[in-house]
Amino acid sequence: MSSVSGQLRLGVNIDHVATIRNARGGGLPDPVRAAHLAEAAGADGITAHLREDRRHIRDADIERLMAEIALPLNLEMAATEEMVEIALRHGPHAACIVPERRAERTTEGGLDAAGGRVHLAPMIARLRDRGVRVSLFIEPDPRQLDAAVEMGAPVVELHTGKYCDLLDEGRLAEAEVERVRLAAAAAHGAANGLEVHAGHGLTFANVAPIAAIPQVRELNIGHFLIGEAIFVGLEASVREMRRLMDAARA
Ligand code: PXP
Repeated sequence: MSSVSGQLRLGVNIDHVATIRNARGGGLPDPVRAAHLAEAAGADGITAHLREDRRHIRDADIERLMAEIALPLNLEMAATEEMVEIALRHGPHAACIVPERRAERTTEGGLDAAGGRVHLAPMIARLRDRGVRVSLFIEPDPRQLDAAVEMGAPVVELHTGKYCDLLDEGRLAEAEVERVRLAAAAAHGAANGLEVHAGHGLTFANVAPIAAIPQVRELNIGHFLIGEAIFVGLEASVREMRRLMDAARA
């Protein structure tokens, strides 16, 4: 089994289509329509985060995504009994376990897989038994990767938020240190049999160095793509990201 090679997949996170819908109530814009457009533009998967407070994606969205889209669904979820039950009920292709704090604006920092073994291991086992591919959203830290391996999670998603923030702030030397950390973590994960994904904060401007890490198999990107869609449309936004990812890989 090789964890390296193959095309880099793009998972499009549609949460913020739901954010705009919820700002007004009603059903528009429809996140499921966004998922269809993302598919037409070259996305390989759809990602949606059902948060405890349902601030963007709601239970009915998950039901419709499962029923109406052909692409694999990656359900982002907190490690709670409620979310595990929902994932077991729907059986999405994948479930990415993320840390979740009520007051945060978005997912801040990675999951403490190493410190949360007692709580996480049984959840991972239940999801795996249902055929759901479990992914842990973690910092690029070998301790966290090793914990994922020990608990039998087949996939990790490396948190690229710090790298993206450092670049935004013009702290280029520190961003390079973080990029090297991400690359080392991807290599460590793949060498230990994990499938490695990455995401958070990725844009046209910062995606190439992450897409170029050969062990990374999938990027999950949301906020920037939905924001860019305001100006160029969702299909063009997704297509350009796909092009930049492929170019970085080549
Ligand atoms: N991956 C995970 C695990 C996330 O929680 C998020 C944000 O919901 C993303 C990727 C996408 O991040 P962004 O919206 O910044 O592209």
